[in-house]
Amino acid sequence: MERQKPSSKPGNPRKRAKKSNIAKTALGEEPEKRGRNKSAPMKGEAAQRDLNVHVKTAKHREYGSTLWLKRQLNDPYVRKAKAEGYRSRAAYKLIELNEKFPILKPGARIVDLGCAPGGWLQVAVKAVGKKGRVIGIDYLNVPAVTGSEVLEMDFLDEGATDALKELLGGGADVVLSEMAAPTTVHKSTDH
Ligand SMILES: C[S@@+](CC[C@H](N)C(=O)[O-])C[C@H]1O[C@@H](n2cnc3c(N)ncnc32)[C@H](O)[C@@H]1O
Repeated sequence: MERQKPSSKPGNPRKRAKKSNIAKTALGEEPEKRGRNKSAPMKGEAAQRDLNVHVKTAKHREYGSTLWLKRQLNDPYVRKAKAEGYRSRAAYKLIELNEKFPILKPGARIVDLGCAPGGWLQVAVKAVGKKGRVIGIDYLNVPAVTGSEVLEMDFLDEGATDALKELLGGGADVVLSEMAAPTTVHKSTDH
């Protein structure tokens, strides 16, 4: 589902690490420290270094699934998200976006359309603070993200908009969406 390449944003990686305080404290806790320099920002080839996990094919697993698993295990952003307590690598897309274009302002009312597994909800909750409001919607089940509420329904369903407005207590300041249909792991179908 998440195919975005890691950012090639220039600049001193140490300086960028300071700016990304949302990432470090997203869950209000210290990132789990496993291995070398896990919470440092990653760029290009450096990010790929020492990531070369091989996945054996297994009888019960289809070839497409094996490829997906290999990509996941070798994706530095997947590892970073795991180490820092984010539900998805997509969290870093929103963090970067919000650094460039500050849209998630303290106190803002945010809607996230297609929010599972909840990485963006985590980022939004942290950014808007206690006075803000974050509501997500997805037809998949999303385990609770503290500080947000989630509607488990199809965004296209009649009544979805009203239900969102009711939970939000009015209109939204920002509507986020990374909605995508479930992938089939068949490359040409998914693209
Ligand atoms: C790429 S994921 C979103 C990842 C999310 N931004 C995060 O950070 O965790 C796309 C999501 O859109 C959801 N989706 C697609 N169509 C939808 C619809 N019509 N109504 C609700 N959710 C939908 C999918 O179920 C999927 O969970």
